[in-house]
Amino acid sequence: MKPYYITTPIYYANAKIHFGNLYTSIIADVYARSKRLLWYDVIFATGTDENGQKMLQVAEAQGKNVMEFLDEIVAQDKEVMQVCDISYTDFIRTTEDRHHTFVQHILQKTYETGDIYQWEYEWLYCIWCEAFKKESDLIRLTPLDKEGIGGDLVCPDHLKAPEKIKEKNRFFRLSKYEDKVKEFYKKNNNFIQPQYRYNEILSFVEWWLEDFSISRQNSSFGIPLPFDESSVTYIWYDALLNYLTVVVDHYDESGNPVFKPHAESMVHALGKDISRFHAVYRPAMLMAAGLEQYIPKQEFVGWFFTVDGQKMSKSLWNTLYAEDLVRDYDRDAMVFYLLYDIPQWADGDFSLERLKNVYESMLMWWRGNLVSRVTKLAAKEWITQGRVIASEAKQSILNEMTIKKTEELLDTANLNIYLQNRYSAVQDANIYMQNQAPWVKLKDESTRADGIANLQYLLWMIKQLTLLSAPFLTNSFKKVQEILGNDLLSQINSSTNLSDPTLFERVFNLTEFEVNLVPDVVYQKKDK
Ligand code: MSP
Repeated sequence: MKPYYITTPIYYANAKIHFGNLYTSIIADVYARSKRLLWYDVIFATGTDENGQKMLQVAEAQGKNVMEFLDEIVAQDKEVMQVCDISYTDFIRTTEDRHHTFVQHILQKTYETGDIYQWEYEWLYCIWCEAFKKESDLIRLTPLDKEGIGGDLVCPDHLKAPEKIKEKNRFFRLSKYEDKVKEFYKKNNNFIQPQYRYNEILSFVEWWLEDFSISRQNSSFGIPLPFDESSVTYIWYDALLNYLTVVVDHYDESGNPVFKPHAESMVHALGKDISRFHAVYRPAMLMAAGLEQYIPKQEFVGWFFTVDGQKMSKSLWNTLYAEDLVRDYDRDAMVFYLLYDIPQWADGDFSLERLKNVYESMLMWWRGNLVSRVTKLAAKEWITQGRVIASEAKQSILNEMTIKKTEELLDTANLNIYLQNRYSAVQDANIYMQNQAPWVKLKDESTRADGIANLQYLLWMIKQLTLLSAPFLTNSFKKVQEILGNDLLSQINSSTNLSDPTLFERVFNLTEFEVNLVPDVVYQKKDK
């Protein structure tokens, strides 16, 4: 089995993850499941970003010890992921020893190459972004009056004034790597997907790469610099290394990390707001530490979505929580609507009304009702086999499964099209059902046999469309496994690596297969 390693950003642990955060986990989950079914040995990492000022401040405001506070948030995040059926295999916390060890190792190495230097400077810091700001990054909250008074400068994302800090900090010589980073971009023009995001980042790289601070002086919380215990590592420097911490297998006799084979196949799913950190700073950090071969293979940069036309924010009423959507609508509906219906090449709007429509029409009616109708009719006729009618077999359903095509769509971040193609199998099956009307044929002895053959063929179509949607419709996958009652099909589980790597393909290619039908409703009607 080939290794495959996908990651999500690690989420700030100042509050429980909301739906906007979870979106990268949903994307990564579809990738992880798809690749498992294509015989890859998958590591899927997610986790929490914990070593920052804002975690400390929020914990203190709640009168809690910071570690106790972080443990609570992590427990909540893990519960959200469980409810949403996110099939991660490693949850990394940046307060763990394994991460401290790795970050200190990289810092020491970089220090020894002379790429870290000290500088005293005065700057603005937004703890809510955990980022340094320049005046030009800020906006004025209120206009200046005639005397030029007022007009507080605030961070545009959090509408809060940044702190002014004067510190002796360590800086990373990003500027030294300007040419190497440019060269890397020229050579790897598929590095960022979708392609237009690559162009965006490239123009930033071509503009100017400025050294950045990698430490904080007056903070007691974080990873101490190995060469200056009085300072801690700047949260972004440590966070960007989490992906490699996960795949450290062990340290050799000279203290150098030895990575799992997955390290070189790493890909990231992330939001557009953090692409610069990932796509520019980190490649240079790895170059400086002599770990250039572990720059990820690809970074999938996603869009931002608004909710019912409004920017989602924890301070507004419209923060959505995925666990509420799962309870009120459905896990599959949430994933399907998000990835199928909202285009990924631009910012989109997540509408609860539309979510309800997608659930009721595309999933409950066209998909769920098809399965219920066909299996009920077939069970009544004591049908025990699904089978293909060669002349009818819709090429579209089979072709979509080819590994090449599936991988092409995934590797170019075309999840919309991936889902749309696969859902077309549902439309094909409904059209077939409507055209053949087996329920009518069954009533007449002269057409009965034909009606039975239609039902058997429809059972085969249901098997195909269920397998095709296994990476994203995980709830209904389990339900249809129970309804069809085929032993081999029941053994497939995309949540973990396949123990029998060819199982999925074998079941997909079965043209005749036993069923033990237990008809049931696939998607329940919801009250909302
Ligand atoms: N801790 C950093 C990431 C460090 S990775 C080394 C961070 N955390 S976060 O919790 O603030 O955000 C995590 C992800 O959520 C980001 O990728 C961000 O783009 C995403 N989103 C937050 N709100 C979003 C939407 N409304 N829509 C889509 N994605 C959004 O940043």
